[in-house]
Amino acid sequence: MKDLKGKVAIVTGSAGGIGEATAFAIAKEEAEGVIVSDLNSDRGNEVAEMIRKETKAKCEFIKTDISDITDIKNLFDKTLKLFGRIDILVNCAGICDTFPIEEIDEKQWDKMLKVNLRGTYLCCREALILMKKAKYGKIVNVTSISGQIGGIATGIDYCTSKGGIITLTMSLAKIGGPYNINVNAVSPGFVDTEMTKEFTHFNPESVPLRRIGKPEDVADVIVFLASEKSRYVTGAIINVNGGVFMG
Ligand SMILES: NC(=O)c1ccc[n+]([C@@H]2O[C@H](COP(=O)([O-])OP(=O)(O)OC[C@H]3O[C@@H](n4cnc5c(N)ncnc54)[C@H](O)[C@@H]3O)[C@@H](O)[C@H]2O)c1
Repeated sequence: MKDLKGKVAIVTGSAGGIGEATAFAIAKEEAEGVIVSDLNSDRGNEVAEMIRKETKAKCEFIKTDISDITDIKNLFDKTLKLFGRIDILVNCAGICDTFPIEEIDEKQWDKMLKVNLRGTYLCCREALILMKKAKYGKIVNVTSISGQIGGIATGIDYCTSKGGIITLTMSLAKIGGPYNINVNAVSPGFVDTEMTKEFTHFNPESVPLRRIGKPEDVADVIVFLASEKSRYVTGAIINVNGGVFMG
């Protein structure tokens, strides 16, 4: 039997990159339903269409800006109407920058934290409220190596937002544990996506596994964390970085 047979999942930020690979990977594990959620409607609809064609999962695109609570409530309401429950939430939506500190003013800081940290929190909150009632749930957040050790190329606002996701994940794991809800995070290193296309300086030879990560490398670990195979894992931050940081 496939690992996610019959499950219903929401994947935010799944119009591209790690989120897209994750939505596909979940659908391929025979999930009943996968919600592709993103700001980008054109690409989001295309991804949902491809998943419907290539897998047996019921898949819909729901346009969502995770910095907007009305959009988030709509995402959860529509998913509940379609499937009657939400078993899995994967928070992939995020933004990144490479600004020096001189250019990270209060507006930039607030924008970054509003999307990456507040958006992730609000999606977790909506899911946790439903999952507590169901006494079942799997939440997987996406942090970053720069949230663990600070950034080299990425802005301090991005690193801080990702560090916050680590604390958020551990705190929610404690709240969710008594209700059979696992809350974990993956922490990618350098992964080849739209987000990193400008990071041309990165040398694969600096990675112990000698290559840059692929979205599927991260998606497969997310599937594990969304499955029963990780039933006794919660509050964990799993490095998916080819060995660049081992902590
Ligand atoms: N690529 C990497 O090397 C890397 C490393 C560490 C962590 N991450 C994290 O992985 C996650 C996925 O990133 P990716 O590399 O696949 O990048 P990506 O840019 O391909 O994907 C991010 C997706 O999030 C969506 N998005 C942005 N703002 C949004 C908003 N307000 N509401 C809803 N959707 C929004 C984008 O439209 C996009 O589809 C991000 O949280 C990122 O910080 C990526």
